[in-house]
Amino acid sequence: MSAQAIATADALTITPVHPLFGARVEGLGDLRNPLNDQQKTALKAAMDKYAVCIIPGQSMSDDEQEAFATQFGKMEDTPTLVDQGRRRLENKRINDISNLGPDGEIWAVDDRRRMYNLGNLLWHSDSSFKPTPAYWSMLQAKVIPPQGGETEFIDTRVAWDHLPQDVKDEVIDMVTYHSLIYSRAQLGFEAFSPEETARCKPVPQRLVRKHAETGRLALYLSAHIGEIEGMPRPEAMALIRYLIEFATQREFIYSHVWSVGDLVIWDNRNTMHRATRFDDKKWPRDLRRATIEDIGPTLEQPR
Ligand code: OGA
Ligand code: MN
Repeated sequence: MSAQAIATADALTITPVHPLFGARVEGLGDLRNPLNDQQKTALKAAMDKYAVCIIPGQSMSDDEQEAFATQFGKMEDTPTLVDQGRRRLENKRINDISNLGPDGEIWAVDDRRRMYNLGNLLWHSDSSFKPTPAYWSMLQAKVIPPQGGETEFIDTRVAWDHLPQDVKDEVIDMVTYHSLIYSRAQLGFEAFSPEETARCKPVPQRLVRKHAETGRLALYLSAHIGEIEGMPRPEAMALIRYLIEFATQREFIYSHVWSVGDLVIWDNRNTMHRATRFDDKKWPRDLRRATIEDIGPTLEQPR
């Protein structure tokens, strides 16, 4: 895509990757080194404006990625809501976004972890099923398949801006309920133990949020939504489906084609993303995610 690179005063080069949002950010150097205050401010400003930033050419270990992430807030604990079996990664704060077991082998076709992780193919916002959901996610590519496995993004402030006024008026004060059970049920994955079901109790979230830094309104959508407060479920799910289809129309999507060493950061408060298919029975795909927590439940945040 032809786009104009903008060189900022702090020597960052910001190149939009899509007409509506998203940018490549270059000039921060090796992220294994701490950022100075000016660099942090510049990256934060780029994130607030573009919602998704791509920083190429990195080679952080899991611990280094954690250290990078904590410069921007408190990292969330990796979810233990659903038992995903023995962990491959030693660092417990890094999310293992791969199709590999602890032995480094590709999962068996019927592996429970595989069934569970296929949920990433649905449009979602990370950890929207937690009372305090995610702020930024930072995903670094270690191994990528030769074909497929792109990650698609949309900016839900853009979706809000384009929504018909009558729909805006209808949904502005709605409260939704999010659970991992709801997203997995969409793929027919229902093998949750009673303990897991208890841990996955639906949590309330605002459907429309105010992006704190820009003041723009954003739809807060996710595959984890399974209810709207005060509405019959089929009516609620039909409305959520309409909103997700509207928000993910082709012109709104940026599809990221990965290179090894890419670090992609997205703001979960005002984006959705999804994995796309690849031959996961044949090719390893190994990405690592560090996730920063939001400041609190969305119902406690101003709008
Ligand atoms: C994630 C995620 C998508 C992908 O890391 O949160 O949804 O393409 N990843 O792996
Ligand atoms: Mn995700």
